[in-house]
Amino acid sequence: MSSDHGRAINFGAGPSALPLSVLEETQTGLLNFEGTGMGIAEISHRSKEFQAFLDEFEHNIRTQLDVPPTHRILFTQGGGTGQFSAVVLNLLARYRLLHPQASAADTVLDYVVTGSWSKKAAEEARRLSGGVATVRTAVDARVYSKDGKSFDNIPPHAEFAFADDPALIYYCENETVDGVEFSHDLESPAAFPFHLLKQDRLVPLVADYSSSFMCRPIPRLADHAVIYAGAQKNIGPAGLTILIVREDCIVDVDAAAKLGAPPVPLTLSYKTLADSGSLYNTPSVLAIYMAGLVLRRMKQNGGLPFYEEVNRRKAKKLYAAIHEGEQKGVFRRKVQQGSESWMNAVFEVLGEGAEKNFLEGAEKQGMKGLKGHRSVGGIRVSLYNAITEQEADKLIAYMTQFIAEANN
Ligand SMILES: Cc1ncc(COP(=O)(O)O)c(C=O)c1O
Repeated sequence: MSSDHGRAINFGAGPSALPLSVLEETQTGLLNFEGTGMGIAEISHRSKEFQAFLDEFEHNIRTQLDVPPTHRILFTQGGGTGQFSAVVLNLLARYRLLHPQASAADTVLDYVVTGSWSKKAAEEARRLSGGVATVRTAVDARVYSKDGKSFDNIPPHAEFAFADDPALIYYCENETVDGVEFSHDLESPAAFPFHLLKQDRLVPLVADYSSSFMCRPIPRLADHAVIYAGAQKNIGPAGLTILIVREDCIVDVDAAAKLGAPPVPLTLSYKTLADSGSLYNTPSVLAIYMAGLVLRRMKQNGGLPFYEEVNRRKAKKLYAAIHEGEQKGVFRRKVQQGSESWMNAVFEVLGEGAEKNFLEGAEKQGMKGLKGHRSVGGIRVSLYNAITEQEADKLIAYMTQFIAEANN
């Protein structure tokens, strides 16, 4: 087998490509973790060697993302979906401690719905908060879409309506399925409207960064209450969820339950995680190891400034090819200009059987994982960190050739 182990270029949305060097290092770690004579999947999570590795991993996230001392970094399991539930329960507990007498009508959970994942998160909030809180849609992007029913945009700022003192405000920074992302240019109309948040208090702002974590810096990170991400897009295998939680959101959930908040399972409580250094029960040791290796490698490569620049160039070139295809009647982009995701680009290939031809042609050249999510259809190109610029260029060259051949 060749030195690349016969690997395809994997443009899948998640689980997704990981750097070859990390996969190779993992093979060694599985046999002998950092000279201990025991494999990483075999060693105790309470050993000093694993603790040192976990500390370095946390330190690398903190320094690369510039996480302030007001925020804790926590590790857990259960994925993004686990956090759809956990943020609701922890922030309802926080609100109850702040407002012991608040009625269900006064306890508001505000959801910004810009795609399939934030919609799902809001549904889970409704399921969990019956009788104790009111879930509101602060804005629904479908209302502002081209066809009135798709997620294809970040709505105008004037349309966001937040409650005066909500228990949480929720948004999904990058909608993996729909390819819609908030702009990181804070002057852009497609940026998150941070200026609408109250300035005189700690706002319980929650962001799902599952599919854009560590691809570039997080704008206004310190203004968030909770940021979370499943590892399986940019930084590791599935099984690890990373949380950045502001101290005031790490509350005594049992004291809140005595005042009428819903009880919180111990493994979902941020306080349990914080008090135990994320080791209350056995963590996903192997997933932490691989993500830790990815973070080490990122640091060696120049950290987030390096990845931001490469990711910017990859996305720019890819969208230029999509636009060219659109002008020539071969492709149609799904997402309105300005709201396009850097990580997941979604478009259609026009014409009878054309999408199938596109996918087959790509596969012949060793490029896989390009089929869009079943709910949206079309093509989805995921350009996570492990996709090199050279690999992105190969796809773009294929797209350019496809456009030229379709026009012949
Ligand atoms: C933005 C976003 N949020 C949440 C999820 C759900 O994550 P998980 O499968 O880790 O529960 C995903 C999964 O793709 C996602 O892309």
